[in-house]
Amino acid sequence: MTPGLIIETADFVAALLFILGLKRMSSPVTARSGIVVAGWGVLVATLASFLYVFGVDPAAQPNLAVNLGLGIAALGIGVAWAWVTGEKVPLTAMPQMVAIYNGMGGGAAGCIAAVELSGNGAMPMGQMIPAIVGAVIGAVSFSGSLIAWAKLDGKINKTIRLPGQQAINSLLFAAIVGLGVYMLVATGGQSPPALTSIFFGAALALGVLVTLPIGGADMPVVISLYNACTGLAVAIEGYVLDKPVLVIAGVVVGAAGTLLTLLMARAMNRSVANVLFSRFGETGTAGAGEIQGSMKPVEAGDAAISMRYAGKVLIIPGYGLAVAQAQYKLYEFVKLLQAAGVEVAFAIHPVAGRMPGHMDVLLAEAGVPYDLMKELDEVNDEFRSTDVALVIGANDVVNPAARTDKSSPIYGMPILNADHAHQVYVIKRGQGKGYSGVENELFYADNCNMVYGDAQAVLVKFIAAIKELGAAA
Ligand code: TAP
Repeated sequence: MTPGLIIETADFVAALLFILGLKRMSSPVTARSGIVVAGWGVLVATLASFLYVFGVDPAAQPNLAVNLGLGIAALGIGVAWAWVTGEKVPLTAMPQMVAIYNGMGGGAAGCIAAVELSGNGAMPMGQMIPAIVGAVIGAVSFSGSLIAWAKLDGKINKTIRLPGQQAINSLLFAAIVGLGVYMLVATGGQSPPALTSIFFGAALALGVLVTLPIGGADMPVVISLYNACTGLAVAIEGYVLDKPVLVIAGVVVGAAGTLLTLLMARAMNRSVANVLFSRFGETGTAGAGEIQGSMKPVEAGDAAISMRYAGKVLIIPGYGLAVAQAQYKLYEFVKLLQAAGVEVAFAIHPVAGRMPGHMDVLLAEAGVPYDLMKELDEVNDEFRSTDVALVIGANDVVNPAARTDKSSPIYGMPILNADHAHQVYVIKRGQGKGYSGVENELFYADNCNMVYGDAQAVLVKFIAAIKELGAAA
């Protein structure tokens, strides 16, 4: 078997593994194995790339030993860094980790384009146009993802908006297009280093300027969008290099990122443009006028005992559960209820928390079986026959204003019908609003009582109350 045939076979196997891995990621039950399968695909593709660069025609490489050493060192540093950070990262920091890895993908596509555009040989137009387009998309994804990482990681705490921001961004974009056209017609694939640097510098600046004004809470959607862009850039550069495996990997990432972005935006009933250009949730003044009634607090022990004697309890987890890291205590409480004969399930909203699948992953971490987690469409009709809806650190995803108040920023967002349950208990620390910044009329409803406190502390009290009851019986 020649090295060329080995590489082609390896690329084909890698592409199959990527597609199979992604397919398995579509269900929480098989997602973990999907990640492993796709990881094998990456390993096969990486080894094939090494063979492509160093093994096909070693004689044509004057600095083979040095280049091979540098390649292995880069691979070693990358693997060690990813291994250590992957082992250490807490679940709540996962979005920023995704952001930084995504940025690396965009950066890699940009680097390939830089080499191609300032290479030694002349390039035909049909190759230069995609190389330039891929360069811009890759560079914007790289710098934009780094800003998204810095915002999510608390390194940048402010939403920075320059006066005339849109005009500046448009001018910069026009300059990038102008430079790209000049490179296309005047350099023929042998762009001087200074011009290449200015071109990439402008594209990197655009990524920074577009991302800086977006609110930190919208970053998951932005990361998903940059993920789609990175995939596109990789696919385009794969076309330029004539590497089908890069095209397939890029298309798979690009398509998955695009669908995820659209699904997240739809589940929030917002357009992607609204995420990118509005100041959603910053002011907290929109919608939800005067709400009648008052919030009625209840003791944790009383709420727990009423659930102990309920027939059916539906639990709605939200962002506050993740903040409190109360998933383990929650499952302990659920097991006590189940042992007492109560039917318990979790109602999961698609955008509860701050990243796709946040609640599923959080609950799975505590050992909650997947068959107890029900999706919005599956569970929403069950609330009418539910004795108690227990809302834990969730707010927007149960706000009935989304159904009725046309002036509310969340109007039209599908919500969980917690208000249809006979009794609702809400665990939260105080009067804090949700991510959208609007008041929640559910908390004032006649059938709703508030259990104030940190989710973890309240659940500890719930557990103690049930155990005391068991001991007294
Ligand atoms: P939110 O609407 O953000 O409400 C979370 C609630 O948790 C707050 O009202 C807060 O009230 C409470 N809380 C915070 N820390 C707590 C703690 N330690 N213990 C108990 N309660 C605590 O959450 P949600 O209902 O999950 O909705 C998610 C929102 O994020 C939606 O608007 C969605 O559109 C948006 N979003 C989601 C995503 C994805 S992909 N999931 C991406 C971007 C945006 P207190 O301060 O009073 O405790």
